[in-house]
Amino acid sequence: MNIERTEEQTVLCTVEGRIAWVKFNRPEKRNAMSPQLNRQMMRVLDELEFREDVGVVVLSGEGSAWTAGMDLKEYFRETEATGLKGTRKAQRESYGWWCRLRWFQKPTIAMVNGWCFGGGYGPLFACDLAFAADEATFGLSEINWGILPGGGASKVAVELLSFRNAMYHAMMGESIDGRTAAQWGLVNESLPLESLQERVTQVARVLLQKNPIALKATKDAIRRVQEMTYDNAEDYLVRVQEAANSFDNEGRKEGMRQFLDDKTYKPGLGTYDLSKQEAR
Ligand code: COA
Repeated sequence: MNIERTEEQTVLCTVEGRIAWVKFNRPEKRNAMSPQLNRQMMRVLDELEFREDVGVVVLSGEGSAWTAGMDLKEYFRETEATGLKGTRKAQRESYGWWCRLRWFQKPTIAMVNGWCFGGGYGPLFACDLAFAADEATFGLSEINWGILPGGGASKVAVELLSFRNAMYHAMMGESIDGRTAAQWGLVNESLPLESLQERVTQVARVLLQKNPIALKATKDAIRRVQEMTYDNAEDYLVRVQEAANSFDNEGRKEGMRQFLDDKTYKPGLGTYDLSKQEAR
């Protein structure tokens, strides 16, 4: 089915209660990522990154798919027809927004409502957390149409799965459901589709209560230290905390004050009250 859609319409975005709900919006093409969609997604992320009324970004898909990966016609066939220049441009546009998402200022959650294939693993890994419907279907389908899992997909498999599962997943081209994806570590949790949005909203609301500077430092740290030696990681974490203090030196002092002096919360069991910090 072909539906005329402007570039702007390939992505939907609504903001409610400081949560930005961003959706791949080409349901008739199972939300396959076309160059248009990739360009629009970058614009949307750009617009959301420093908006005061947005604290968390959730990425999901309209219709039955999260995303069926790269658009074989518009991303591969049509750009390849324009030569290397076209291919590299299309790659820059897709890899560009995934990279932006990996290091996004705000916490990000993938809400995988349906099909998730191939190139979809790029944005899946780019999101800090991921929740899937039990009914969702994941697959490195590249081998089924004769290519390797490129665009970072092989790297995502190795980062998130055991060596044996990564190899099996990439070589066999079999799909797995949301439950198996959770068991394998591709997503944090899987739950019935009907409860998915409620659970994601719950998680997003918890994140909204946390210190945003500390959250950004934390999410970057978890990604960065993965490939560092212990000593390098230790040093990096000292520097990052010091850098974070230059943006928000009051946060941790307030956190200590509310525990040690006011005795209004226990850090082991919950978060300090951010609003009191803002009010001081
Ligand atoms: N690229 C281009 N078009 C795609 C697409 C993709 N990745 N995924 C789906 N579509 C298109 C189909 O060609 C079809 O278009 P048409 O209506 O013009 O014929 C439309 O989306 C609906 O797809 P259809 O296959 O009929 O839907 P389905 O619900 O029966 O099956 C999938 C869904 C996701 C299982 C199936 O579409 C599929 O295998 N897609 C390719 C997945 C893939 O290998 N992605 C990796 C790319 S790196």
